[in-house]
Amino acid sequence: MKGLLNLGIKASAVLFSGAMLVACSNEKDPGLEYAPDMYHSVPLDPYSQVKENLYNPGGMNMREPAPGTVARGKMGYNMYLSKDEAEVAGVELKNPLEKNELNLAEGQLLYTRFCSPCHGDQGDGQGLVGQKFKGVPSYSAGRVATLPEGHIYHVITNGRGRMLPHGSQVNPTERWKIVMYVQQLQGGDVPAPAAADSTATGTTPTN
Ligand code: HEC
Repeated sequence: MKGLLNLGIKASAVLFSGAMLVACSNEKDPGLEYAPDMYHSVPLDPYSQVKENLYNPGGMNMREPAPGTVARGKMGYNMYLSKDEAEVAGVELKNPLEKNELNLAEGQLLYTRFCSPCHGDQGDGQGLVGQKFKGVPSYSAGRVATLPEGHIYHVITNGRGRMLPHGSQVNPTERWKIVMYVQQLQGGDVPAPAAADSTATGTTPTN
């Protein structure tokens, strides 16, 4: 009985070290999988694909959206542009929000919270952080003064150079409101500071 037990321990030690070796030999290879049916489901799941899907083009379980379609609530939002495509965004994206006082006021409030520490209340790059951070451009000088709205939207979402992305802090609608306000600063037009009791919405980070 004891012998059997010993044998069992030895066998499992050998199996275990064998599995470790297999697992470590190649980082891309998950190694020997024990009862894979337990974690690879038989149905074609969209987010976990093991085998090529023979029914869909490209072999993927997930299908790309049909060309020209826009997901609900995503009108005017660039889902398919990579982070380096600010110039393309500048041509393709238009602000879906109406330019009115409320949107501008909300844009100003959000700008004050998220951008002015670096870019300054006047958009001159002289915020308290901007003075130390260096390289924060003025909105109303040179190339930046003529950046189109889609470009600014893209920079807020994905960042640019030394500026980090703000996509996780402000949702798409809030970004477009900020864009509206930044465009006002590009023209050197700085309205009175936002009222403390502004009706601007709180920030709900979504995508
Ligand atoms: C931590 C500091 C910081 C914050 C906060 C910040 N920026 Fe910037 N921003 C920069 C710097 C630095 C650059 C220059 C980036 C570069 O070219 O390397 C820049 C560049 C830009 C540009 C010009 C992009 C281009 O194509 O040249 C725009 C537009 C801009 N920021 C908008 C915003 C907006 C809107 C916000 C708020 C949502 C914001 N930034 C928040 C530091 C900041």
